[in-house]
Amino acid sequence: AGKVSLTWFGPYPRITISDPELVRQVLANKFGHFDKTKLARLAKVFIGGLAVLDGEEWAKHRRIMNPAFHAEKLKRMLPAFSASCSELIDRWENSVTVSVGAIELDVWSEFQNLSGEVISRAAFGVTNEEGRRIFQLQAEQAERLVQSFRTNYIPGFSLLPTENNRRMKAINTEVKAILRGIIEKRQKYMKNGGTDKDDLLGLLLESNMDYSDADGKTNKGMTVEDVIDECKLFYFAGMETTAVLLSWTVVLLSMHPEWQDRAREEVLQVFGKNKPDLNGLSRLKVVMMVFNEVLRLYPPVMLINRRTYKKIELGGVTYPPNVMLALQLMFIHRDPAIWGDDAGEFNPGRFAEGVSKASRDPGAFFAFSSGPRNCIGQNFALLEAKVAISMILQRFSFELSPTYVHAPYAVLTLHPQHGVPVRLHRL
Ligand code: HEM
Repeated sequence: AGKVSLTWFGPYPRITISDPELVRQVLANKFGHFDKTKLARLAKVFIGGLAVLDGEEWAKHRRIMNPAFHAEKLKRMLPAFSASCSELIDRWENSVTVSVGAIELDVWSEFQNLSGEVISRAAFGVTNEEGRRIFQLQAEQAERLVQSFRTNYIPGFSLLPTENNRRMKAINTEVKAILRGIIEKRQKYMKNGGTDKDDLLGLLLESNMDYSDADGKTNKGMTVEDVIDECKLFYFAGMETTAVLLSWTVVLLSMHPEWQDRAREEVLQVFGKNKPDLNGLSRLKVVMMVFNEVLRLYPPVMLINRRTYKKIELGGVTYPPNVMLALQLMFIHRDPAIWGDDAGEFNPGRFAEGVSKASRDPGAFFAFSSGPRNCIGQNFALLEAKVAISMILQRFSFELSPTYVHAPYAVLTLHPQHGVPVRLHRL
C-alpha cells in the first residue's frame, strides 16, 4: 500500500510519493532501480557535477569529493565561516550605532550575501573580485533559469537565440573562465610544492590526486572541466539553500520570542560573548532543535525527483522504466498522521531527543535527503548556520518589521518571496 498519486508531466507519467517508507526505498536505491531525472539542456548549463551525474560517473565523483567534507576538514574551514559572519555582524552593528536604537534590514538578502561569501572563502580561499563575481553571476543565472522555465518547455525553444538564452550561455562561459583561472593557478601552486590550502578546492584537488595515485593511473581522476562543474555546483547547491534556512530561522524565532530567548540563553551559556569554537558548536542543542524544526516546516529543497530506470515494484505497484517519481518533502514533513496534531505548528521541542524520536516514523524527516545520494554539504551548511545564528543571538534581539509579508515562494528553493525585513536591537 502507501500513499501515491499520479499526474502527467508532459508525456511522462509522474507519481507523487508521500509515504516515508516508500521514500526510504527509493532513496536507498538498493538495486540501482532509480535514477536522477534528466535535466533540460539549459538547466544543465547551470547545474553540473555531482548532483546531475548517474551511475559510474556519479560514484567516482562522490568518492573523490567525500573526503573534502569530512568533519576534520570542515574544522579547517571554520575560520573562513567565522570571518564572513564577523563581517556581517560588524556591518549590522555599525548601522545600529549610526541610526541609534533599532534598524530595519532585509535578512534574506543579507544571508544570500553571507552564504555566497562563505562559499567563496571556504571553496576557494578567496573573497576577492573573482569570488564575488562568480556568485553574482550564479545568482543572475538562477533567476534566468527560472525565467527560462516559462518558455523553454516548448521543444527547441532553448536553442533559440533569445535574449535570455544568449545571456545564460554568456554567463556560463564567464563563470567557467574565472573558475578555470583559479583552478589552474592552484594546480601550478601545488605542483611547485605549495602547501595545502584549507579550502574546498584545495581539498578537492588533493583528494583527486590521492585517488589517481591509489589507482595507479593518473588519468582516472577528475578533469579540470569536472572540477569546474563541481565548483559551480557548490555555488548553486550551497548558497541559496543555506540562506533559506537562516532566513526562515529568523522569521520563526521572531514569531516565537520564547524560542529566541531559549536559543540565546544557550548560546550565551556556551560561548559567552566569545567567538564560537568547534567544541561549543557541537554542544548546541536548542539551536539544533530549532534548525530541525525550521527545516521540517520550510525545507529549502521541497521536492526530490527520481526516475525509474528499470521495471520495479514499489509499494505493491509495478512501474515500467521512465516513470517520474516526485518525493514531496512538505507533504511528509507536515503530515499529522506522522507528526501528531500539532504537525503544522512550530514546536522545536519535538526534536528534544533527536530526529529519530521526533515522529512516528524515523524516516519522515529528510530535508537533506537520505541514502547514498544525500546532501554532501549537510555538515557544511549546519556549521555555517550555527556560527551565523550564534553570533547574531550574542549581539542582537530581533523582531519582524510590520512590513513583513509571509509568502513562502517555491522557485528552485522555498524562499521568502518579499524578503524578510527585520528590526534589530542591539543587546
Ligand atoms: C540547508 C542547506 C541545504 C539543504 C537543505 C540541502 C539539501 C539537499 C538535498 C535535499 C539534496 C538531494 C537532492 C536530490 O537528490 O535531488 C542535496 C544534494 C546535494 N547537496 Fe545539499 N543542501 C544544503 C546545503 C548544501 C551545501 C552547503 C552544499 C555544498 C557546499 C551542498 C551540496 C550538495 C551536493 C553536491 C548535492 C548532490 C549530492 C549527490 O547527488 O551525490 N548542499 N542537498
